[in-house]
Amino acid sequence: MRCAVFGASGGIGGAITRALAARDDVSEVHAGSRHGAVPQGPRIHPFRFDTRDEAGLDHAVAAIGAPLDLVVIAIGRLTRADGSGPEKALRQLSAAALAEQFADNAIAPAMIARAVLPLLPRQSRWVMATLSARVGSIGDNRLGGWHAYRASKAALNMLWRTIAVECARTHPHGVLAALHPGTVNTALSAPFQRGVPADKLFSPDQSAAALLAVIDRLTPADSGGLFAWDGSAIAW
Ligand SMILES: NC(=O)c1ccc[n+]([C@@H]2O[C@H](COP(=O)([O-])OP(=O)(O)OC[C@H]3O[C@@H](n4cnc5c(N)ncnc54)[C@H](OP(=O)(O)O)[C@@H]3O)[C@@H](O)[C@H]2O)c1
Repeated sequence: MRCAVFGASGGIGGAITRALAARDDVSEVHAGSRHGAVPQGPRIHPFRFDTRDEAGLDHAVAAIGAPLDLVVIAIGRLTRADGSGPEKALRQLSAAALAEQFADNAIAPAMIARAVLPLLPRQSRWVMATLSARVGSIGDNRLGGWHAYRASKAALNMLWRTIAVECARTHPHGVLAALHPGTVNTALSAPFQRGVPADKLFSPDQSAAALLAVIDRLTPADSGGLFAWDGSAIAW
């Protein structure tokens, strides 16, 4: 398999990159990052990308070359660039926070999908998985809070579903999936781990192994779905 991981500098993206590079059925892992360091290894090919520069993104992705059998988009943010957020109450919400969260969690993955589409085979299986979050489920939302993050992940889920409908017509063997990685011990979750039982806090390697097992089992009939780390479907 030829694979690409966007966000390979992140906790989960890095672990997925390392796990893929260790597999016998993987020939290349193209490990992309905006500015962070990515894992190193014999089958790992680092690259840089910026989702705000469409032409530059197209260029970076085209350099990977076709075909891509697996694309994992592991980017996203819970707090803002200035460290604030997520909101506990509506009065803390700002238009700037919404714009920033939508840019990082919904718009950036969608622009990656747009750039990657020409590299996806029409006659064989591929998977394009994006890391989403259970809190982006509208049907599952009973706790409230985290307005901008939740809404941006709900938008991501809708984008993935919409792209899946389109790809089913042109790429019948392809699968688009949005995945909830569990609560994972990374920089993103570090400030919010209080109260999470130890057996519910995954290491990045545990989450990566679980997510790749889910990805391996996905079929075109699953395309457009939102799935948890254990393979269970999550309500929209
Ligand atoms: N950790 C959890 O408990 C948890 C739970 C549910 C869902 N998730 C989701 O899982 C995904 C990965 O999270 P993580 O825990 O691995 O976080 P992380 O360690 O903070 O990594 C996040 C990665 O996203 C990249 N990134 C953020 N915004 C970007 C943008 N606009 N363009 C390019 N790269 C961008 C960062 O790149 P730079 O280093 O270049 O900034 C970094 O590589 C996120 O989508 C998150 O919402 C995580």
